[in-house]
Amino acid sequence: MGIDRSALVAWYKKNRARSRALFDLLAEEAYYSQPISLRHPIVFYEGHLPGFSFNTLVKKALGRPSIDAQLETLFARGIDPHESGAAGAGGTGGAHGEWPSRQVVHRFADEADRQVIDTLFSGDLEQPGHPLLDRAEAVFTILEHEAMHQETLLYMWHRLPFEQKRRPVDSTPSAGGSPPPAEWIPIPAGCATMGVPRGSIRFAWDNECPALVVEVPAFAIERHDVTNERFLEFVDSGGYRDPAWWRAEDWAWVQHDVVAHPLFWERQDGRWYWRGMFDLIPLPLAWPVYVSHAEASAYARWRGARLPTEEEFQRAAFGSPAGERAHPWGDAEPTAAHGVFDFSSWDPQAAGRHPAGASAWGVEDLVGNGWEWTSTTFGPFPGFRAMASYPEYSADFFDGEHFVMKGASTATARELLRPTFRNWFRARYPYVYATFRCAR
Ligand SMILES: [Fe+2]
Repeated sequence: MGIDRSALVAWYKKNRARSRALFDLLAEEAYYSQPISLRHPIVFYEGHLPGFSFNTLVKKALGRPSIDAQLETLFARGIDPHESGAAGAGGTGGAHGEWPSRQVVHRFADEADRQVIDTLFSGDLEQPGHPLLDRAEAVFTILEHEAMHQETLLYMWHRLPFEQKRRPVDSTPSAGGSPPPAEWIPIPAGCATMGVPRGSIRFAWDNECPALVVEVPAFAIERHDVTNERFLEFVDSGGYRDPAWWRAEDWAWVQHDVVAHPLFWERQDGRWYWRGMFDLIPLPLAWPVYVSHAEASAYARWRGARLPTEEEFQRAAFGSPAGERAHPWGDAEPTAAHGVFDFSSWDPQAAGRHPAGASAWGVEDLVGNGWEWTSTTFGPFPGFRAMASYPEYSADFFDGEHFVMKGASTATARELLRPTFRNWFRARYPYVYATFRCAR
């Protein structure tokens, strides 16, 4: 396999420029805040992105020396909130406790970027048989890692007060559109390719390998994601007050956290609003609802349906009467006509607006406009092997507590749009850009 060094450098620089643009959206006072308590403060991520790239490619794979061992450790793991008395990056003069000043973070990031780019231009990136550099694994690991983190940043930014964000010119959400009616589409029995053989595509994460093809029985799936309009029926009918629809552990969460509606919804003066990235807007009824797996499952049960399995999603999205395809719409490269992904929108758009992206069966928005929850517990395919460049990437989450999401959201980079890409979260994590549709 030949590697195109200038393409790799261009991708790295594109990632870095986008990350910088995302950090530039924030007012300075947000820098040490922690918009989601389960995540690190924002400062961590500005060091983590270049730090991970430097650690993985330059230090671990190519054995070059550290820039600053303490900062590298800090930005690899962060500071455990339970050990907040422990020394952090000592001597760096942090503005906030143990976190370094922004100037220190930037100086570290600049040097890490310089060395990564230098390595991409002239390092021995592809070494057959090398645990981290066979097929240039570490290179693609760092490139996809940064792209994925940009989505994490955005859903964190989503939770910040509006006054801590600088509104870009293109920030007006397209909230119009009438909600499409619910419609079931029958999908005939057939096979679905879940995993790819190692080494058969340019890069795949460890959880996408090895090859796995399954036979999927016939089922029916909804043409559209469940919209806010349809989810409102569940809320209005008392769905959040009836344990019949919830798994026991999810019901405990509903009660304990007093959950009564999707996190992206807010109630003011008897009216529902959507908390967008930059605005609170009257609830757009035609948009897909964003909810946790727990809420999606409860809704499906209330409807007398269920969530699709990962295999069913795969069949609905990539299957066709003539065999499987690279994208729901076929083998053409993804464009904005096919769906809402690749940072083309700060918020979702109305369901039914991208018929050009429909799958062979006519199922719409499978890739884009929000990840799609499945009923499948995240786990390894038979023959799984943790990848050397990022051994904890998947294996740390094979705990039976995480569920697979497929597809893509508004903030999923186009480089990640491939059939075998898998995402996963805990059932009661309500922050992500995730929607769902029912199956039966
Ligand atoms: Fe990371």
